[in-house]
Amino acid sequence: MDRTRIRVFFKCSAPLIFWLCLLSTFFLGFFWQTSEGHWLNRGISILCETQSRLSRNKTDLLDNSPEIELPRMVYTKAHIFKPLRTDVLTVTPWFAPIVWEGSYNLDILNEQFRQKNMTVGLTIFAIKKYVVFLQRFLETAETYFMVGHRVKYYVFTDRPEAVPNVTVKDGREIVPLKVQNYSRWQEISMRRMEIISYFSKQRFINEVGFLVCVDVDMRFNDHVGVEILSELFDTIHPGFYASERKAFTYERRNNSKAFIPQDEGDFYYAGGFFGGTVDKVYQLTKKCHEAIMADKNRSMEAIWQEESHLNKYFVYHKPTKILSPEYLWDNNFGSPQFLKKKRFLAVPKNHAVIRNRRNSHLKC
Ligand SMILES: *[C@@H]1O[C@H](CO)[C@@H](O)[C@H](O)[C@H]1NC(C)=O
Ligand SMILES: *[C@@H]1O[C@H](CO)[C@@H](O)[C@H](O)[C@H]1NC(C)=O
Ligand SMILES: *[C@@H]1O[C@H](CO)[C@@H](O)[C@H](O)[C@H]1NC(C)=O
Ligand SMILES: *[C@@H]1O[C@H](CO)[C@@H](O)[C@H](O)[C@H]1NC(C)=O
Ligand SMILES: *[C@@H]1O[C@H](CO)[C@@H](O)[C@H](O)[C@H]1NC(C)=O
Repeated sequence: MDRTRIRVFFKCSAPLIFWLCLLSTFFLGFFWQTSEGHWLNRGISILCETQSRLSRNKTDLLDNSPEIELPRMVYTKAHIFKPLRTDVLTVTPWFAPIVWEGSYNLDILNEQFRQKNMTVGLTIFAIKKYVVFLQRFLETAETYFMVGHRVKYYVFTDRPEAVPNVTVKDGREIVPLKVQNYSRWQEISMRRMEIISYFSKQRFINEVGFLVCVDVDMRFNDHVGVEILSELFDTIHPGFYASERKAFTYERRNNSKAFIPQDEGDFYYAGGFFGGTVDKVYQLTKKCHEAIMADKNRSMEAIWQEESHLNKYFVYHKPTKILSPEYLWDNNFGSPQFLKKKRFLAVPKNHAVIRNRRNSHLKC
């Protein structure tokens, strides 16, 4: 094609090209205006909406955040020079309360909690022969645990048919959940972390506000109520409340994920009574389970299984509340002066029939 022919071609088709362009611009503009479905249009509007929804949610929260207002209450006022307990530590250096008899006003705490209208989930593991503990555990819990509040007892067991038919009060419910058994008691004990984290995500987050995770070979012996609740709490182990760090039975082998150096750690916490909000318990149990699995990969098992990992976790994630040994006691330790109540007690058992690691741990 020579130059003249090209020029002639453009001269002739220029009006056509012009009209084609005009037409397509018109249609493009038309669809841009009318079609909600244009990808760019949609992208931009989603961006704008998300922005405004986010800021709207925060502002909504300001006006609609639930208010807790106490009714008129009459009680003895606190006094700066009259600490409620003078014989024991009642607050940690990171300002977490340590719960002792006489250090709180239950009426105020109950009223505040009642207004939050929350349910408390209690997890226990009754695997293999441990189902024998359920009857007494549940009966005493009905008498002493979170009285007047809504409770769901989550009973993990390999034999749901063996869960006793204990009558519970209004607003309370026993929920048997089937899990598999393991041959070693150490494995059963450690798997609790995996199971609690799994069910926190699957179920607990939609059903309860707080989780309390305890051993089943125990009985309630006195009031255990909302004074224990906080974002993340654990109990001081009855065997080590007055011990120095070097006496704590932390994991001391540095190739375990549960390793704690000699110069770290605050308390020796018990694996048999911990809890918190569902999100915090989920984080804790997930992390402990991952650490247990990482150890297992290297053929390691921490000296006190999940209790060692729990103690490691609490070195770097300080609990927001700590329960005194009133909340986890064993009569083999006697009745020291400072212990005004024995709220939750180990049940003596026939070691030949039921292997219990906690008691061997306590060296009694
Ligand atoms: C409290 O919670 C229960 C169960 O979740 C619900 O049925 C009830 O309506 C709630 N009450 C108030 C006052 O929000
Ligand atoms: C463990 O579970 C399996 C399968 O459910 C069962 O056959 C076995 O008897 C159980 N072991 C014990 C000791 O309960
Ligand atoms: C509890 O009651 C249910 C239904 O009434 C029954 O099937 C079950 O065997 C009972 N469990 C026990 C341990 O008695
Ligand atoms: C770990 O422990 C071993 C033996 O107890 C010791 O030789 C080694 O130096 C320790 N490693 C670290 C990083 O502390
Ligand atoms: C365990 O080891 C396997 C294979 O070596 C690896 O894929 C897995 O991620 C490890 N798990 C943990 C928890 O470290």
